[in-house]
Amino acid sequence: MSLPDGPKLPALLQTLSLIADPTGFLETCSQRYGDPFTLRVLGVNSPPVIFFSHPDAVQAIFTTLSSRFELGKVTHIFRPLTGDRSLIMQDGSRHQKQRQLLMPALHGEGLYRCGSLISHISRTTQPHGSLVSVQDWMLEISLETILRVVFGLQPGARYQELKSRLQRLLERINSPLYSLQFFLPPLQQNWGAWSPWGQFLQLRQQIDDLLYAEIRERRDQGNQGTDILSLLIAARDEAGTPMDDTELRDQLMTLLLLGHETTASGLTWAFYWLYRHPDVLERLHQELDALGPDPDPLTLAQQPYLTAVCKEALRVYPIALIAQPRRVREPIELAGYQFEPGAVLVPCVYLAHRRPETYPEPLQFRPERFLSSKSAYEYFPFGGGNRSCIGMALALFEMKLVLATLLRTYEFEPAAGFQPLRRPARRGITFVPPRSVQLRIIGLRMAANDEAVLAHP
Ligand code: HEM
Repeated sequence: MSLPDGPKLPALLQTLSLIADPTGFLETCSQRYGDPFTLRVLGVNSPPVIFFSHPDAVQAIFTTLSSRFELGKVTHIFRPLTGDRSLIMQDGSRHQKQRQLLMPALHGEGLYRCGSLISHISRTTQPHGSLVSVQDWMLEISLETILRVVFGLQPGARYQELKSRLQRLLERINSPLYSLQFFLPPLQQNWGAWSPWGQFLQLRQQIDDLLYAEIRERRDQGNQGTDILSLLIAARDEAGTPMDDTELRDQLMTLLLLGHETTASGLTWAFYWLYRHPDVLERLHQELDALGPDPDPLTLAQQPYLTAVCKEALRVYPIALIAQPRRVREPIELAGYQFEPGAVLVPCVYLAHRRPETYPEPLQFRPERFLSSKSAYEYFPFGGGNRSCIGMALALFEMKLVLATLLRTYEFEPAAGFQPLRRPARRGITFVPPRSVQLRIIGLRMAANDEAVLAHP
């Protein structure tokens, strides 16, 4: 049986089109070939890559067919950073076991206890000056959140050292040279401290030393904390076995890599849309102001319009254009086609979020769409099924608390970069508004408890 239709360009040209203009190329293919469509991208044997956005197909991929897939080598590019023991490097039962170990730490009680800390970080992580690059500010807040809420570090010498080294590492992996080295393992040559890969390895070693020292200290002190690292140290699998230090390190780096830029980018989009739509901003302010001077974090996070704003921001331009590609392991039938082992199926978040059947006038920013619920196969910014994002609850909680705290604390006006976008920019593995999106702080609104904020601007 034949594959869904798709462009006849050579695989190299299709790959370059995807790299150069991913959103434009996906839109063109969907208009020209419908749903699903097949691309050929460069890789081992250039397997067919089939993009799906219809909710029925997405549902089948996430649920009934999920055991017939493997991730293959799709995530291998992250290995130098996350290590072999990371959740994203596993498949099958080992993957499910690791998820069961990690999930409790990122959900429920433990997570909600972090609310006050996230609000505190939002109030006290101040921008430099009154003209603010939203993306930079959100990256700073999100890194502080990972360090304190996930790694459980207290401000001090190790905290500062780890923060500055992680910032250097994250900047480095966003550079074009490093991206190339990530994708082409033969370029990963350690020719000493002057070679780019040698510098990367050195930086990674310094970060590892700090992380291992923290884990050791925690164990020595009886591991009393309520942060995510403490919960992971305390976690046991069915056989009662804890994670060893290497696995803890690999999971921490995974949470940093997948949780930092993603959440910061989601927040940046939310600001971008709010300051392009004064009516939406006004309605959100009304909801937040009605809560009085000092609402608890859980109450804030339960506000329906705030929730809808965050969800709509993750719909129009999803941070990840696609869920992780699933490689077919056993022949399957889907959407009237037969797919053989080796074919790669991709649930396309970007196109699914733009289906006019589900979202009338899909390019318009309308949080009201999310005042009633959407199916998990029409709206899936965090992917779905057994490989869905394990940080979803934390990311949404953090987005709502940071947004609410900053909007309640500061009076902003849009300064630059709020014109309609032709296409989002790529930053690492995420899609973001251009860095030129800037806000000006023109005053303080409700003074918060933290004294630090009163000193500003
Ligand atoms: C707005 C923020 C975020 C977005 C949009 C996002 C999106 C995604 C998506 C689309 C996937 C792939 C899911 C699939 O293939 O079905 C994913 C996986 C993952 N995410 Fe997130 N993510 C966000 C924040 C976070 C945070 C805060 C963390 C952790 C602290 C995190 C950790 C992970 C991990 C570990 C996986 C791999 C799961 C697995 O393979 O089992 N993410 N994320």
